[in-house]
Amino acid sequence: MSNYHIKDTEEYYQVYRKSITNPEGFWEEIAEEHFLWQKRWDKVLEGDFNDNEFKWFKGGKLNITENCIDRHLKTRGNKTAILFEPNSPEEEAQHITYNELSKRVNKLANVLKSKGVKKGDRVCVYLPMIPELAITLLACARIGAIHSVIFAGFSSNAVAKRINDSQSKVVITSDGAYRGAKTIDLKGIVDTALKECNSVESVLVVKRINSDITLKEGRDEWIQPLIDKASTECEPEIMDAEDPLFILYTSGSTGTPKGMVHTTGGYMVYTGYSFKNVFQYKENDIYWCTADIGWITGHSYIVYGPLVNGATTVMFEGVPSYPDYGRFWEIIEKHKITHFYTAPTAIRTLAKQETEFTTKYNLSSLKILGTVGEPINEEAWHWYNDVVGSKRCPIVDTYWQTETGGFLITPIPYVIPTKPTYATLPFIGIQPVLMDDNGKEIKENFVNGNLCIKFPWPAMSRTIWNDHDRYRKTFFSTYKGMYFTGDSALRDEVKYYRITGRIDDVIIVSGHNLGTAPIEDAINEHPAVAESAIVGFPHEIKGSALYGFITLKDKGACRNQEHLQKEINQLISDHVGPIAKLDKMQFTEGLPKTRSGKIVRRILRKIACNDTEELGDTSTLLNPKIVKEIMDNVVK
Ligand code: PRX
Repeated sequence: MSNYHIKDTEEYYQVYRKSITNPEGFWEEIAEEHFLWQKRWDKVLEGDFNDNEFKWFKGGKLNITENCIDRHLKTRGNKTAILFEPNSPEEEAQHITYNELSKRVNKLANVLKSKGVKKGDRVCVYLPMIPELAITLLACARIGAIHSVIFAGFSSNAVAKRINDSQSKVVITSDGAYRGAKTIDLKGIVDTALKECNSVESVLVVKRINSDITLKEGRDEWIQPLIDKASTECEPEIMDAEDPLFILYTSGSTGTPKGMVHTTGGYMVYTGYSFKNVFQYKENDIYWCTADIGWITGHSYIVYGPLVNGATTVMFEGVPSYPDYGRFWEIIEKHKITHFYTAPTAIRTLAKQETEFTTKYNLSSLKILGTVGEPINEEAWHWYNDVVGSKRCPIVDTYWQTETGGFLITPIPYVIPTKPTYATLPFIGIQPVLMDDNGKEIKENFVNGNLCIKFPWPAMSRTIWNDHDRYRKTFFSTYKGMYFTGDSALRDEVKYYRITGRIDDVIIVSGHNLGTAPIEDAINEHPAVAESAIVGFPHEIKGSALYGFITLKDKGACRNQEHLQKEINQLISDHVGPIAKLDKMQFTEGLPKTRSGKIVRRILRKIACNDTEELGDTSTLLNPKIVKEIMDNVVK
């Protein structure tokens, strides 16, 4: 029998050892005993970090929705699979059972088929956090279509880029989204995006806010009448373990986002196994992850990981501040939530409010708390632990990435003791190493190093859509034979890891992964701008915020800087999305550059962070005088 559910520390070390000394044997047992396959695999793992082509469970056949839905129907048919809490507390929550989920997924799968969607076709999903979002993912998976979810906060430009890159055939969106007291015109954003796209044949629209939208003849249709007519039966498409399940775009060091491709078998096994252990999920628990399904956290730990385990997973449409800052805690009391998993930015925001907002609710149902997406600072950790968890709920600080598909480094409650600000130990099967800048492994502890992973794990993404070469270069060229995360980390005396931040051009703002390149491209579109450079600086709530150093073509001609700042932020909103707006902007005479003309961001980062004591030797710059000019005019 395999150790599907690790219950104590000794067992963790024993299972961990097994998973790294015999990874194939280990994952084979887990896959065989706890998942449903239509055909057994021929080989557990093929490929390594030197050739960068990986296959897990090669030759295995399955459909992930049979694992997420069908196999639960006998024993859990009437159990709530998805518990939907709407934006407005006035609107009733929906409890969608596994039986009902099965019917709704099959119906939507049949609708997609009727629109000509076949195995391997891409379906773009641009929806708010409503049940149809999760159902669409599963409906795609049912028929072997590849879903590409775009977070519903991205702009039309960002949507167009992603649709074009994936060549999506169908878009599923809604007539709008509720977001606290506001509404967002999602359909309008799709309409603008589609002016730039020619792969899309149909747009299916979910009615959510009853807004007055126009349907383009021959392309757009309301989805509900089609669903009403569709059959509740849909045979699952039998997929190869290595067939793509989805594409999810994430930032990279160029203006083009990386379409990370996740495949079926290994992703299912890893997300299922890691969900079960990291949340120590028990049959009647009510699990709530506040992420949006537009991000990897939602894919792996709202939809697939929980449903594969027959869990009840909560989907919340709204925001933590609406109608007031007590909303999260009210929901926990109302649904007797046992597991609460959120981002440090949300914790910091809520910790700033009157304690009353939190303490007036009964949070005694909580058993386990979690964080994800960015480093959590000590103060926020203690507030979460003391006020929300009453010091009795372990906090799992889960470190991972869109690219990794599932947790890399994380505590396991009651098994791996937590330590504030530390993600602690590697999850089963993960072999972390710290490397120095010269490509040597750092063996000692208490040193900061570049975090790499030494051996493949089943949920890692297999490629970048349409660009395998970029995949190789981005993740495997810095350190030969290793996956480079792009993060730095510190290892303490008991080998616990603490993530200390990104070392590339990605900045984590409020837990959102933002590349500097697309933001700079947007700013440079402004006719008054010559060039720009974006860096991160510490922010009390967001963790990091964006500081833009912008050189104008003719600074003297700019009469109204405030107006220009607004225009620049609007451009960023239009091109990337409102989450990427700059908190600080400085108009400079120039940017520090090397003699070969490369912007020296390291210097700008230090200036933005008010850390100018050790700027290093600036005399070799192309324009050394510019550093002082920038420092003198820094925005406080
Ligand atoms: O820098 C790390 C940070 O978020 C990055 C990955 O972002 P994304 O692909 O959007 O996925 C976020 C959700 C998994 C990482 O490279 N990060 C993620 N989790 C943590 C973290 N930083 C510190 N602590 C974490 N727990």
